[in-house]
This record gives sequence, structure tokens and C-alpha cells, in this order.
Amino acid sequence: MTLEDKMHKIEEEIKRCTKCSLWKKRTNAVPGEGNYQAEIMFIGEAPGRYEDLQGRPFVGAAGKLLTSLIEDIGLTRADVYITNVVKCRPPNNRDPKQEEISACSPYLVRQISLIKPKLLVTLGRHSTKFILEKIGVKVSGITKVRGTLFEGEINGVPVKVLPTYHPAAALYNPALKDTLQADFRKILEIIKEKNQVKKGVTLDFFLKSDR
Ligand code: URA
Ligand code: SF4
Repeated sequence: MTLEDKMHKIEEEIKRCTKCSLWKKRTNAVPGEGNYQAEIMFIGEAPGRYEDLQGRPFVGAAGKLLTSLIEDIGLTRADVYITNVVKCRPPNNRDPKQEEISACSPYLVRQISLIKPKLLVTLGRHSTKFILEKIGVKVSGITKVRGTLFEGEINGVPVKVLPTYHPAAALYNPALKDTLQADFRKILEIIKEKNQVKKGVTLDFFLKSDR
């Protein structure tokens, strides 16, 4: 099977999944979308109303902001992969429950295993907590870890992880938008640095995997 076939298979499984009770109220499950060979994967929390209606990630108000943050650093949505920890909408956008994250996150881990992105940008505390705990980092709060680059391995795939705020947070608190933009600018530096690693430039400046 090609990479495309394997990714389509996961998408089809997600669309007919009943592994947690969120399937009952969904219009559409939202597997994720973008480049299957992306170096950068953005991971949100769970679909909202418009995502549920369209079956696509980040197409509502928070999605508009995410899209502009991506475009501000010279990329497009088609360059990256965008998905969520939980693939079906929680009623009234409530926080996903631990049991829902446990049931659904194997899909995300499989997507990471196939795409093998170099950088995971986790948006908000739910995806940050899930991904950092996967690489053995205990998270006390999003504010403590955002903007710090971590590295580890997920299912044998070496990944760097850059946590930042959820774009929806900046819709409620516009002061956070500057911080989000600053964190997004680091994405380019990280990707650039990566290309210079061969020449002996290290990433130590960004790394703080001891927290
Ligand atoms: N918020 C998320 O976390 N994910 C989406 O896809 C949309 C809004
Ligand atoms: Fe399945 Fe995930 Fe949807 Fe639950 S949220 S039904 S585990 S796809």
C-alpha cells in the first residue's frame, strides 16, 4: 500500500468509528487534511461546529486565524498537515474527556507514524498535554511550556514539539495573538536550523526537554 492508501484507510476508519460516544452526535468525523509528506503537523483539540458540518479541520473562526498565522510565515495549508487529538465534535464544544482522548488518540499516533513530520505544533493544552506526555514530559500548564521546543520519539518517529496557545484563545483574548505570532515565527527558525544541523549548528538554544 502507498502512503496515500494508508492515510485514506485511516480516514475511512475514522469516518465510521464508534469507539467512543462522540460518534452519536456528529455530523461528520474530521480526520485531518493537508500534505501527507508534511514536515510540520498542527494538532488542535477537537472539531467545532463548522468542522463537524464540513468534515474538515479548522474551518471556523479559529481556523481562519490558524490559516492566517500559517500564511504569515510564508506557508499554506497545503504545505502542512492539520488535525486534532479527538476527531468528532464534543457537544457544545465542551472539553474532550480523558476516555475520549484515550479512544481517539491512536488515530493521531498512526497519522504521525505515517507522515513522520519533523515538527508537531500543538495548539492548546489538550494536544500539548497528550503529545508531551507521549514523549515523557509532564505538563503543568500551557503557559509554562508554550514557545519552548521539546524533542522525543513517538512510535519510533523522532519529533520536535512546539506547544503554543490554541488560536481560539486569541479570539477571546486578543493579547495572546502577538505571542501566537511569535511562536509561529519560531517554526521557520526551527525548520531552518534543522537544515543547518549538518553544518554543526545545534538546536540547544531552543531545547528545554528537562521540564
Ligand atoms: N478547534 C480545534 O481544536 N480544532 C478544529 O478543528 C477547530 C477548532
Ligand atoms: Fe471514534 Fe474518535 Fe470519533 Fe470517538 S471521537 S467516535 S474515538 S473517531
